[in-house]
Amino acid sequence: MTDLLKGNIVIIGSGLIGRSWAMVFASGGFTVTLYDIVKEQVAAALEDIRKQMEELKKSGMLRGTLSVDEQMSLISGCSDLKTALEDAIYIQECVPESLELKRKIFADIDLHINDTAIISSSTSCLSPTKMFNGLKHVKNCIVAHPVNPPYYVPLVELVPHPETQPATVERTYDLMKKIGQSPVKLLKETDGFVLNRLQYAVVSEAWRLVQDGVISPRDVDLVMSEGLGMRYAFLGPLETAHLNADGFQSYCERYGEGIKRVLTTFGPVPEFSGEVAQKIDAALWDNKSSKNDQLATRREWRNLCLSRLAKLKSEIKYNN
Ligand SMILES: NC(=O)c1ccc[n+]([C@@H]2O[C@H](COP(=O)([O-])OP(=O)(O)OC[C@H]3O[C@@H](n4cnc5c(N)ncnc54)[C@H](O)[C@@H]3O)[C@@H](O)[C@H]2O)c1
Repeated sequence: MTDLLKGNIVIIGSGLIGRSWAMVFASGGFTVTLYDIVKEQVAAALEDIRKQMEELKKSGMLRGTLSVDEQMSLISGCSDLKTALEDAIYIQECVPESLELKRKIFADIDLHINDTAIISSSTSCLSPTKMFNGLKHVKNCIVAHPVNPPYYVPLVELVPHPETQPATVERTYDLMKKIGQSPVKLLKETDGFVLNRLQYAVVSEAWRLVQDGVISPRDVDLVMSEGLGMRYAFLGPLETAHLNADGFQSYCERYGEGIKRVLTTFGPVPEFSGEVAQKIDAALWDNKSSKNDQLATRREWRNLCLSRLAKLKSEIKYNN
């Protein structure tokens, strides 16, 4: 374990992801300062966080050992960046996905922090090189990309800038473990990081199968949720293959030729627009309620499923 285990965490941007990070850090016992350029947004975030924590408490899903009041007492709001950054050991940026905006905020942060604080971005796909180039504290900069909602889905992709110090990666890794997330280290940056590259490969083939009239949109989703996804909640694609034969090498020997043959039938990158997009969209709505209601109900159900799955996974953790 490295040394970044206690101190003030600063969240920049109190929207969807900023709120979730604040809850995750508070559940790990850290003091959190929540900063947003929109003052009212901070007050709304604090109210929403309490509401979410109380719901979680009721359903037995509140993370950590502290009560709602104890966790809430660790989180405070702030609408002045310089004040927010006093005593910061770790900054998690959560402002909208715009390179220009993020570069501006990192330049401001760079002026107000000490030489040991870590500056981390939640970006989904912006390049660490483009975001952090030229900063005085570039050695302390890293991407910590969460998966929505981070409270239930623990993966965090850690992506370094070429000048990020190895100690920054290790300290961020330890911090993520400490708050109960599951960090992975990318050894270098790549467009889309890893989670989205895998996700885009799947969504691209799902699109093609619908486009080519092989299967309906609803059924292709079932192939994942009732088939592949059942395993993937516990095992990755490589270990899945390993267990489906007598080791990964044996899997390649048995199935490699077939996999290569099928892969040669994959076509070009889909357009992601036009008739196929309309067909998929139409298939995913029902006529029973308004679109907003459908999204809200389905998201609530998704979060419930993910929270139960997280509990199950923690109960049946494999120890070797
Ligand atoms: N939503 C997701 O599913 C998801 C998943 C993983 C990563 N991310 C990444 O997290 C980041 C935040 O996404 P979000 O969905 O929480 O966005 P959001 O729009 O919900 O929240 C952004 C917040 O940033 C605030 N803000 C804007 N400019 C600011 C500034 N200059 N200083 C301080 N605060 C400012 C806004 O007022 C708002 O409260 C993005 O980079 C996004 O790509 C999002």
